[in-house]
Amino acid sequence: MAAVASDEPHAEPPPIDLPEELISPEWTGFLVSTTWHGNYQYVLDNFVDIMHPPYLHDDTYTLAYGDKSDVVQIDDTETGFIVRRKEDKESNVERMEFVACNNAHARVGVYIPPGGGPGGFLRIIATVVPIDENSSQFNAWRMRKLDGWQGAMFRFMFNNLYEPLTWEVIEQDREILETLPPWPAPENLYQHDLGVARIRRYYRREAEAQVDALERFSEGKAA
Ligand SMILES: [Fe+2]
Repeated sequence: MAAVASDEPHAEPPPIDLPEELISPEWTGFLVSTTWHGNYQYVLDNFVDIMHPPYLHDDTYTLAYGDKSDVVQIDDTETGFIVRRKEDKESNVERMEFVACNNAHARVGVYIPPGGGPGGFLRIIATVVPIDENSSQFNAWRMRKLDGWQGAMFRFMFNNLYEPLTWEVIEQDREILETLPPWPAPENLYQHDLGVARIRRYYRREAEAQVDALERFSEGKAA
């Protein structure tokens, strides 16, 4: 295949939009990354499905708390949207935010029990990279807003205690994901799937816009 040269207005790649948690010294944490044998669109669903943790992860260190019933609400932001629980906002997952940028990612806030130390909610920055139709690379930074000795203590505790607990949660997601039928599955969405419906709509519109742009580009070359 012939190499494709960049055009003049796009000679350099744009800067990557990184979230504050990954560039600010006020935050510290670790990256966990693994390959899942499932379609990446199911992983995107998982990023904004705020009512699955109190069911799927109800025997874990961080997600064994909170009511199992709630109403899901969704709020638009300048760069995407935030999914929250309307009633129980603080004892399980407090938000699932989708940030649409050239480094699209999810920002998730997870309740930490009192024994988990200072730093507020655990912040997960999650991305997914499609590998092929049925496999994806899942990446998640586990971040706390801690610096100095408190940040060092969190890193020590992560290495000695929290990392295996983190993998318990991730493995539960993987087991479900890998039992799902090939995408797209026949299904009935309901109120708790507001975030799932929204993120699918976003990616469908992006794909349609790219197809349109490609067609215009092809027509322009043919003219
Ligand atoms: Fe999960």
